Amino acid sequence: MRLVLLGLPGAGKGTQGDRISEKYGIPHISTGSIIRESIASGTNLGQEADGYISKGELIPDELALRVVHERIIQPDCKRGWILDGFPRTVLQAQELDRRLAEGGLGVQMAFDIRVTQAEAIERIAKRRMCSQCGAVYHLEHYRAKGKGICDKCGGELYRRSDDTEETARRRLSVYMRQTHPVLHYYGQDGRLYSIDGVRPIDEVFADVDHYLQKLVKDDHVGEAR
Ligand code: AP5
Ligand code: MG
Repeated sequence: MRLVLLGLPGAGKGTQGDRISEKYGIPHISTGSIIRESIASGTNLGQEADGYISKGELIPDELALRVVHERIIQPDCKRGWILDGFPRTVLQAQELDRRLAEGGLGVQMAFDIRVTQAEAIERIAKRRMCSQCGAVYHLEHYRAKGKGICDKCGGELYRRSDDTEETARRRLSVYMRQTHPVLHYYGQDGRLYSIDGVRPIDEVFADVDHYLQKLVKDDHVGEAR
């Protein structure tokens, strides 16, 4: 299963990526999370990316491509992967397809999780993240049971530095300018699946899962032939 999650900042890519990963046992790869971890640990990538991420700008394509390439060649990606927040430009999408074509294993489905800009801003403002395991919470829609503590690992919850209203608005406008054309890229050859993201998390997942079950079924039919 080789999937791409698209959608505005705050649309729920990370939330749905976790659910898909849990059900189907394939790694959820968030380029944003990888970059944030690199910044926290002070690696070369982190130092290069910090200035972009804190302003809500995209990191350069070649850097993002390197991050993804290094990750998807790892052994746990043999059965597939879920890319969250990548590709974010048409060039990234083209380059990903070009590289994957060499192994004959391209992106099968790209999900566009659709929310309004107002909803995206509200979700970002009330998001909290676990500083240890990266789990995502929301102060109203998806609350941690203990105040400020992660249900899964007991880590401390924090607010992302790019989740201020000003930077969030910047990220939305960057998305519309640079990432929105990626929808058209996957739509051209029938790989784009549009999902109404303004519903409870379980309902959004049920929609995504409907398509994934079809994909699994078609793969089995293909194997049996
Ligand atoms: P990234 O980390 O990918 O951030 P983003 O795209 O802005 O998306 P978010 O993580 O903010 O939102 P999400 O869609 O994952 O929503 P979530 O599930 O958390 O990227 C950050 C930065 O890294 C970029 O700005 C850029 O600088 C850089 N970068 C990353 N990839 C790059 C690339 N390929 N190229 C160049 N630069 C790159 O949900 C949001 C909130 O809503 C949560 O609180 C959640 O609990 C809640 N929620 C989720 N679903 C629902 C629902 N259905 N109903 C109610 N609440 C919900
Ligand atoms: Mg995310």
